[in-house]
Amino acid sequence: MPGLTPEQLTSFHQNGYLVLPDYLTPTEITACLTETHHLLDTFPLDTHPLTQFTTGDNPTTTTQHVGDEYFLTSGDKIRFFFEPDAFAPSDPTSPTSRPTLTKPKHLAINKIGHSLHTLSAPFRAISLSEKNAEIAKSLGFKDPRVLQSMVICKQPGIGGAVPSHRDSEFLYTDPPSAVGWWFALQDAGSGNASLGMYRGSQRVGVKRRFVRLGSEEGTGTGTGFEAGENVGREEDLEVLDVKAGSLVLIHGNVLHKSERNTGDRSRFAYTFHVIEGAEGWTYDERNWLQPTGEGFSRLYQ
Ligand code: FE2
Repeated sequence: MPGLTPEQLTSFHQNGYLVLPDYLTPTEITACLTETHHLLDTFPLDTHPLTQFTTGDNPTTTTQHVGDEYFLTSGDKIRFFFEPDAFAPSDPTSPTSRPTLTKPKHLAINKIGHSLHTLSAPFRAISLSEKNAEIAKSLGFKDPRVLQSMVICKQPGIGGAVPSHRDSEFLYTDPPSAVGWWFALQDAGSGNASLGMYRGSQRVGVKRRFVRLGSEEGTGTGTGFEAGENVGREEDLEVLDVKAGSLVLIHGNVLHKSERNTGDRSRFAYTFHVIEGAEGWTYDERNWLQPTGEGFSRLYQ
């Protein structure tokens, strides 16, 4: 197993990201898409709290949408988060009534998370693999741990934009160590909510944090962004055009975003993150996702 070449490593460190085309086999892509459709078709709606998900910049909105039990306890489960725009306007005469979807549920989901890498066989196979372990070794990880895996659906017309952010804001370690593994399960080009990457912005470092609110110990029931601004330079922006099966490695400190899906095709992607679990790196107790059971999955021993 080769891991990354010296040229690929140099490119990753220079730009803060690296595209590896044809990383997944057609069989792996099909297995993951079939699994995604199965999950979307079969999850029960009647018992769902109709939680939305947004990583928008408004802390109040964010808190309202994601700061609940369903989200905060999803780190070791497979759960379903709706697009904010998938709901009909609430009835002002009945403020406590259950929200109504404007689309069939399988077309209304923003993402599925956050432990596909342990609970779903096809996603586990492309997450906890030898090939990924070799890449982690190339990147210098000593005890890489996999966490926060999810399918991002980006359904046509409704798939919302993800504003500029750094993944280490969500999965902060001291010192920062997060790297995102982002797989295109379908083609992701311009106009179809592809990734926008700010070349070299990893050198700026983490400017804000997404944390559990409500207590110093991180036991609060809400989440939100602490103060801090993410400003990318337009001249550094590269909008990626990647084909299904590509892997994009994303430095945890690199600023990136994706646009709303204005196209007529869905853009399914799968992503998980790796952090350093070795001594000398501390996983922050205010991160939204906290370890349960035996802790985060080891990529290798
Ligand atoms: Fe991200």
